[in-house]
Amino acid sequence: MVQIKRVDAKDIVPLRARILRPEGPVHEVLFVEDLMPESIHLAAYCPEGNLVGCVSALPSEHDGKPAMWLRAMAIDTVHQGTGIGHSLLLEVEKRIKACKGKFLHIWCNARLNRKEFYTRHGFIETQDPTFKNGKAGESIKLIRRCL
Ligand SMILES: CC(C)(COP(=O)(O)OP(=O)(O)OC[C@H]1O[C@@H](n2cnc3c(N)ncnc32)[C@H](O)[C@@H]1OP(=O)(O)O)[C@@H](O)C(=O)NCCC(=O)NCCS
Repeated sequence: MVQIKRVDAKDIVPLRARILRPEGPVHEVLFVEDLMPESIHLAAYCPEGNLVGCVSALPSEHDGKPAMWLRAMAIDTVHQGTGIGHSLLLEVEKRIKACKGKFLHIWCNARLNRKEFYTRHGFIETQDPTFKNGKAGESIKLIRRCL
């Protein structure tokens, strides 16, 4: 069982870098929105206190309306497939919904081979074609309404 806490971006940058950009550069896992007050950074800690997972929701737009952009979800390699990503998604969705209905959608650019992880959480494809997203490779925009 992990404990999920809201943290500052600086607390999760090392995990983002290790999992998403193991060969660097680190600046590719730093986002201008990281320091915006509305941004939500969640960290999952195992009972021993180690950081084992993270996700960020950054203020953005979809169809010209406020939306949250889910970015840099990363689970420590040895803990992948144990439900931490699932728990982080549920928690970040709950916190976005608690923002007084401000954000109508949550969206992400998912690596194509991770699509199912998000579609099992109610994310659906948009009309946008798949695209090459730098080092993340072939990716697809996925979206879900924030009801
Ligand atoms: C992708 C990632 C965030 C998923 O988190 P996780 O903690 O490993 O996933 P969970 O254990 O919570 O799995 C939740 C569900 O998704 C499924 N799932 C997990 N990884 C999957 C994958 N790569 N493809 C398809 N389904 C996957 C699990 O089988 C599980 O299904 P279930 O609920 O029916 O049992 C994590 O594996 C990770 O950090 N991977 C490396 C970095 C990465 O790819 N980040 C996302 C970029 S889009």
